[in-house]
Amino acid sequence: MSFPRDRLRRLRRSETLRRMVRENKLSCDDFILPLFVVEGSGLREPIVSMPGVYRFSLDQIVDEAKRVADLGVPAVILFGIPGQKDARGSGADAEDGITQRAVSAIKAGVPDLCVMTDVCLCEYTDHGHCGIVDQGRVLNDPSVERLAQTALSHARAGADVVAPSDMMDGRVAAIRHILDDHDFDDIPIMSYAAKYSSAFYGPFRDAAESTPQFGDRRAYQMDPPNRREALREMQLDLDEGADVLMIKPALAYLDIVADARSNFDVPIAAYHVSGEYSMIHAAAERGWIDGERAMEEALMCIKRAGADLILSYAAAEVAARLDS
Ligand code: PBG
Repeated sequence: MSFPRDRLRRLRRSETLRRMVRENKLSCDDFILPLFVVEGSGLREPIVSMPGVYRFSLDQIVDEAKRVADLGVPAVILFGIPGQKDARGSGADAEDGITQRAVSAIKAGVPDLCVMTDVCLCEYTDHGHCGIVDQGRVLNDPSVERLAQTALSHARAGADVVAPSDMMDGRVAAIRHILDDHDFDDIPIMSYAAKYSSAFYGPFRDAAESTPQFGDRRAYQMDPPNRREALREMQLDLDEGADVLMIKPALAYLDIVADARSNFDVPIAAYHVSGEYSMIHAAAERGWIDGERAMEEALMCIKRAGADLILSYAAAEVAARLDS
């Protein structure tokens, strides 16, 4: 049977009915808020290309973490921007590195907030690549070693979850091994499993000062036209010991999020990246779209596609508007 007996508009008649048949609902519990931390004190530097996002010095970031936790956001993911960079990214695994100190400070001040760390070298290397470079090439295995050390240093500082974002082959296994060898067998790995070489990372690279000084990241991040390959990346990361699989970016890659959801039974995360966030703000500033609605719609649709966890710069502002 169909029209005129069937009328799907019947269940859309009122907000109450719509509420009752709504298939998905955003909750604060879905969110992970990225935070940038810099050296210095008293700093809360606005990031021009990301309205509403700041780089915090250590003394300020704990207050921000408290505010975020009070809004009901369960987790943050930290990106450290060191004072000095070098070829091997020495700051990445330094015991007193910026990220390590931020983790300890936040865990001390807001113990119940889940503190995740982005494990990568690009913020710490002077060339801006995510690994060790030799003659213009990013070397896989030496980079993996550095990344494993970095993850270990984050765990030692008190990180609750480590999240490798470099896209080197074999890094999840290396991180799992080094953590297990040092009594951190209870620290989960959220892998950036299907991370694409995307133009949508532009504003982040300003924020984190991590733009590659030569070339680009296409020789390690995934090629955007590829869908089947994402399943291989995710399967490999699972086999290597990943606890959560992440897809990044989110909005233009919802097919990958849906594939992940239907193929794997682990929690799926999606990263609503800087460009996706800033485009909404930019259009809203011009009065072209309703920014609040567009932001919530974007996050809602990422959830509908199958994400359990959503990394978003809008996590706090949206959490403040949600009723639960
Ligand atoms: C790499 C990293 C990047 C992002 C998260 N981790 C940048 C890149 O790969 O160039 C991008 C996040 C965003 O755009 O919001 N450490």
